[in-house]
This record gives sequence, C-alpha cells and structure tokens, in this order.
Amino acid sequence: MARKLLIDTDPGIDDAMAIFYALNSPEFEVIGLTSIFGNAYTEICTQNALRLLEIADRTEIPVAAGADRPLTVEFKGPADFVHGANGQGNANLPAPKIQPINQSAAEFIVDQIKQHPGEVTLAPLGPLTNIALALLLDPTIVDDIHEIVLMGGNAFVPGNASPAAEANILNDPEAADIVFGMQCPITMVGLDVTEKVYMSPEVLDHITSFDNPESQHLAKILPFYHDFFTGRRGEPGIHVHDSTVISYLLDPALFTTVKHPIRVATSGISRGKTWPAVGLADVESPWSGRRDINICVDVNAAKVIEMELDRLK
Ligand code: BDR
Ligand code: CA
Repeated sequence: MARKLLIDTDPGIDDAMAIFYALNSPEFEVIGLTSIFGNAYTEICTQNALRLLEIADRTEIPVAAGADRPLTVEFKGPADFVHGANGQGNANLPAPKIQPINQSAAEFIVDQIKQHPGEVTLAPLGPLTNIALALLLDPTIVDDIHEIVLMGGNAFVPGNASPAAEANILNDPEAADIVFGMQCPITMVGLDVTEKVYMSPEVLDHITSFDNPESQHLAKILPFYHDFFTGRRGEPGIHVHDSTVISYLLDPALFTTVKHPIRVATSGISRGKTWPAVGLADVESPWSGRRDINICVDVNAAKVIEMELDRLK
C-alpha cells in the first residue's frame, strides 16, 4: 500500500524538484501540500504549490495555505537571491487556475492525521511553523503521526544561513524547538547529508532533458539556482536539499544515522543551531526528557542521485 505523505513546503526550486520526485514515486500517496514562507512569502509559495500540481497534472491533490510569519518574530524576508523573487527562478509563469482549500495548513495537517491515525508521514521542507501550529492546535496528533522526516538543521557541520544555522530552522527556531520536542518518530535530513548530495552540471542537464512537463519546468528554474550555488561554492553544481528527504523515505538503507535528542538555540549568535545531545545523557540538562531524533550523518550520494534521476524521467 502506498504511504500517505503530506508535504509542507516553501517552493522554492529544490522544493519543486522534491515535489515532482515524490509525485513520480508510486510508493507514495501524496495527500496534500501545505505552504509556508521561507524561500518566498507564503502567498507566493502557495501559488507555486498550486502551479507545480498543475504542471504535474495532479490537481486533485489539495493545497492548504500556511502561516505567513514565524511563531514569535517577523519573517526576515525571502531567499530571493537563491530562488528568485517568485521562488521559481524568476521564470515567467502563468497564474494557477486551481485554488487552495478553505482550511489553514495547521487545520489540514491535524485533520489528515486524525482521519488516518498512524498512517500519515509528514515531510516538512521549509520552516517548521505549520507543524508547530498543528501541534498547538491539537497536542494529541503526536500519538497518531506515523513519522516526520524533515529537511532542516545541521548537527555536526556549519550552517548555510549563518555560520551556526541552516535556513529552514533559522527562519523559525522557536517552532523548530517545539517540533524536535515532539514525542513521535522524527528523522532529520539536514546539511550533514544534503551537502554531500551534489549534482554536477551533467546531472542537471540530464534532469532537465526529459520529455515531460516536470522536466521542462525544472529546465526553466534550475539555472537560477545553479548560478547561485556556482557563485557561492566557486565551482559548478548544486547541493540537493529537499529531494534528499524523498530519497530517505524511499530507501533509508542508503543513509547512516545517529540518535540523539536535539534542542534548537533560540537566542544569541547560535540562534537556529540544532544542538544534538552527544553524551552526558545522565546529566540533567535542557535536553533531558526529549526523545532521540534520528539524525542523518552520511549518505550514498551516487545511489541517491541515480534514484532521483530514474523517478524524474
Ligand atoms: C533549505 O532552505 C531552502 O532554501 C531550501 O528549499 C531548503 O529547504 C536548505 O537549507
Ligand atoms: Ca524548502
């Protein structure tokens, strides 16, 4: 039976790749997309989620609009230098014809989990605000979530949005700290592995050469993302962030993980840093009482890329 997958997303160029990857994987029944700010403002991300479903001809999948700001502070603004002002590489795209549903993302998340107890996997690919809001709306959802596999954080490597923090977590550290404290199975697919999955220009040429609308859309949007990475890394190619969640869900055996509780720093220069409690388990600390997070630390990158190419073709 296909696994029920609810994707919370801020599309975003790599979000688009991940969404197409999931939609092209028969192992999943994608039961909805929920939008969040991050790569662009929430309103734009909602429009992009709708557009991506139209491109993939999957307009039966509902989209619920999410929060437009973090839990306790103002949104510090979109990553337009990475994803373009429209979140889709500034490609000229028509307005979507379909509409979001009449429920907030948090309401929709609670509703789906309660309708299918024990069956829903959450795949957050952006800041964790909607997931935290869903928990605040109904704390009992933790008993009914199958698993959360999220893109975000950096356990043993530097950040990408500050020296300390990864972008999704830094966009709402308070929400992230709530989510990492949830008593349900959580896997963190953070920079520790996503920066090891590197797609060369040759792989990108391949991904954008398939004869399908998804590939043609990626051909329009990926050059912007590629230019950003080339400038930052000083060499061509991209890191594969959000799709790596889908790869983990498809084949966790391709990943090495370690288990530690995580706290998220919410102040000071390490704001947004995901701190694993390594050792000192017997000492009372802010990590005490927290469930272990399954933290991805290594990956068979070649196999992961091969799998994504295979699904996108
Ligand atoms: C994460 O931040 C966003 O820019 C990407 O879509 C990804 O989810 C990587 O740090
Ligand atoms: Ca994202």
